[in-house]
Amino acid sequence: MMSLATFPRLAFRQLFGDLWMRRHWLTRTSSNATDYLSDYWNSADHPIRQAVIEIVATELKRGGSLLEYGSHVGINIHMLKDREPYRESAMFAVEPNREAVDFMAANLPEIEILQAEDTKFVASDFPGRPIDVSLINCTFCAMSQKRTERVLDKLCRISNSIVIGDNLDNIHGPKSEYKVDPVHYRHPFKTMLQNRGFDVVAVTPSPEPRPHLNGFMVARKQRQ
Ligand SMILES: C[S@@+](CC[C@H](N)C(=O)[O-])C[C@H]1O[C@@H](n2cnc3c(N)ncnc32)[C@H](O)[C@@H]1O
Repeated sequence: MMSLATFPRLAFRQLFGDLWMRRHWLTRTSSNATDYLSDYWNSADHPIRQAVIEIVATELKRGGSLLEYGSHVGINIHMLKDREPYRESAMFAVEPNREAVDFMAANLPEIEILQAEDTKFVASDFPGRPIDVSLINCTFCAMSQKRTERVLDKLCRISNSIVIGDNLDNIHGPKSEYKVDPVHYRHPFKTMLQNRGFDVVAVTPSPEPRPHLNGFMVARKQRQ
């Protein structure tokens, strides 16, 4: 049953959630107090980071191409590029935060980057080629349903496999864990992927569940 507190939270999200969230990510810059760039770049040992890399590495064949949507400084791409099977892989990143993009361009000169949110990404022809695996880790939870739908439309058109790390429902069993949260969005990924011709082939709980990232889903394009 909905609690009394749910209504104001719902109204807040409806009215300001999208604006608040976009502003948060677009304008976020590092300071002496919080160095976001280093925090992300130095997170290779974190269990969640290691889990997402293992899941992508299981899906991505030797030399396969990868696009990360919402890559921040590109630590996932960097860790994959460091592995022998992917040294020659074509890798692409989409990220709206200017500071993160500048850092990524300086540290990963061999990848192609589009500085964009969903609207510009969808209107562009970036990456201009089909992609083996698209990764969206902890990014759709920051995007409204409408924005997430249009990005998935494009990624499902151009990709063979999609890996999503996010806020997954029913990850610990059939009981819904769907909660109303004014900050993070939740999306029915399984249905959204199936509606776009993808089969969910694996769902793995996160080693350290967070409200906005409790597991990973792998989906593959259905054969025609
Ligand atoms: C929590 S961080 C995750 C970064 C990275 N994927 C990782 O695994 O560490 C969320 C990222 O999504 C980006 N983002 C937020 N809204 C976005 C949008 N509408 N389109 C693309 N990226 C977005 C943010 O700028 C940020 O880099």
